Amino acid sequence: MTSSQTELMAGGLMLAIDGEVATVTLARPERRNAMTPATWQGLAVIGASLPPEVRVVVVRGQGPSFCAGIDLRLFSANGVPGEEPIGGLAISEQAIAGYQAGYLWLRNPAIVSIAAVQGHAIGAGFQLALACDLRILADDATLCMKEPALGLVPDLTGTKPLVDIVGLPRAIELCLTARTVTAAEALLLRLAELVVPAPELDAAVADLVAALLTVDPAAARATKALLRQAGGHSLEQQAEAERKAQVKLLSKRP
Ligand code: ACO
Repeated sequence: MTSSQTELMAGGLMLAIDGEVATVTLARPERRNAMTPATWQGLAVIGASLPPEVRVVVVRGQGPSFCAGIDLRLFSANGVPGEEPIGGLAISEQAIAGYQAGYLWLRNPAIVSIAAVQGHAIGAGFQLALACDLRILADDATLCMKEPALGLVPDLTGTKPLVDIVGLPRAIELCLTARTVTAAEALLLRLAELVVPAPELDAAVADLVAALLTVDPAAARATKALLRQAGGHSLEQQAEAERKAQVKLLSKRP
């Protein structure tokens, strides 16, 4: 086992790379894939070391839940053995920035990221699904931004995609009630691109991956970069960005 595999396992993560597709698995099902700082650091390591040929990243969870969020033992006096404490003065903005790095790379234009969500996606787990470009939910999936109910803010890069997807009023309602969204409602709120019967989740993800891989890689990267920046641009700025991207893309053709 390599040192990085050992590092990933310490964070309850597994990584499998098959050509153009990487699968990141949250692999602590006995704790419903609850996350620790080692998990977020492991995710950041994966993002920083992804081979350039990878075009699609699937994020999934083992067992009945996608992810039950932060490991709540971190807030207890005993904490989690071998892990940094989280509560009170032990936390710093610098530490949180390190945890956020585990989520930020999933937006990279070089890849399309897909969250395959079954069962619970709570708190940090919901934010992980939000960090991905696309979400496919099993019909038993539930989403919950639990942080405010625990006296926390969502700080793992989830607030922006949530507002972008559902709009400000609904984001306020979801976060400040910390209520649970079913898969059916998630589809209505555009928090899921697709909802399928739970036994069909893997097949639905495989179909989407196959479809994404049919598109020209350079065009896919340039198009995702354009789409990602569109929300912050005026029409004129975006039209200019489209022109530039097209000229750059075509200039590289033989
Ligand atoms: N942290 C630590 N351990 C957890 C967590 C968690 N977040 N979630 C589940 N576990 C553990 C349970 O303690 C239990 O351990 P045990 O077998 O030693 O008793 C085991 O995982 C299974 O959990 P159950 O509750 O028995 O499983 P069930 O399927 O009935 O419920 C659920 C799953 C709904 C996820 C429930 O465990 C739960 O509510 N967990 C807490 C969720 C939470 O509040 N997360 C924090 C969100 S805020 C944030 O992420 C910043």
